[in-house]
Amino acid sequence: MRGDPATTSADVRERYRSRAAEYTELLGSVDAMAAPDRDLIAHWATMIEGPAIDAGCGPGHWTRFIADHGVAVEGVDMVPEFIEGATERFPDVTFRLGRLESLPADDGALGGVLAWYSVIHTEPEQVPAILGEFARVLRPRGELLIGFFEGPRLEPFDHAVVTAYFWPVPEMRSALEVAGFEVVAVHTRTDPGRRPYGAILARRR
Ligand SMILES: C[S@@+](CC[C@H](N)C(=O)[O-])C[C@H]1O[C@@H](n2cnc3c(N)ncnc32)[C@H](O)[C@@H]1O
Repeated sequence: MRGDPATTSADVRERYRSRAAEYTELLGSVDAMAAPDRDLIAHWATMIEGPAIDAGCGPGHWTRFIADHGVAVEGVDMVPEFIEGATERFPDVTFRLGRLESLPADDGALGGVLAWYSVIHTEPEQVPAILGEFARVLRPRGELLIGFFEGPRLEPFDHAVVTAYFWPVPEMRSALEVAGFEVVAVHTRTDPGRRPYGAILARRR
């Protein structure tokens, strides 16, 4: 089956609602994550000045990890099962229901936004508005770290939960620049038997 580019945000929410427990079991632990990702996110956390949001936090393990690095961070996700589960597993960290399109933060209030594989399901034409929302909530020189599946063409694929998109680095870089970011570093990696990963560290201009 090919990816269906017409997948909506409501579809994404419903698919994650029904798979949240399974997703958390498989991927909801920092120990289950790749060491280069842990190193990158830990490095990013040390650069943040001010509060942060883990935007699309899913099971909340990265939120917990960032909090452990001394950052005042909240996890935000649109899936109630993730927010309930994360609150139960990490009771000393704040998680709240919310959307990438309208984050619960005032203009320029944050030092950091993590968007770790949280825009991968978003229809590409909707991504610029979400990057614009990240820019809105970040203070000047605030730090964004965005993780995504990297590929030679911007195209859908059949992700285990719901359609996701490969993003070429130049396209993601350009979308970030248009949204008001300066790209600081680009990381790509392909682990054996896995899809290529991309991560961009971008600073609010
Ligand atoms: C692939 S998971 C990544 C979760 C987590 N960041 C991680 O690294 O495990 C994508 C997450 O983004 C969330 N998400 C996708 N679109 C969203 C939106 N428009 N608003 C809020 N959350 C969204 C999903 O509910 C899901 O938890």
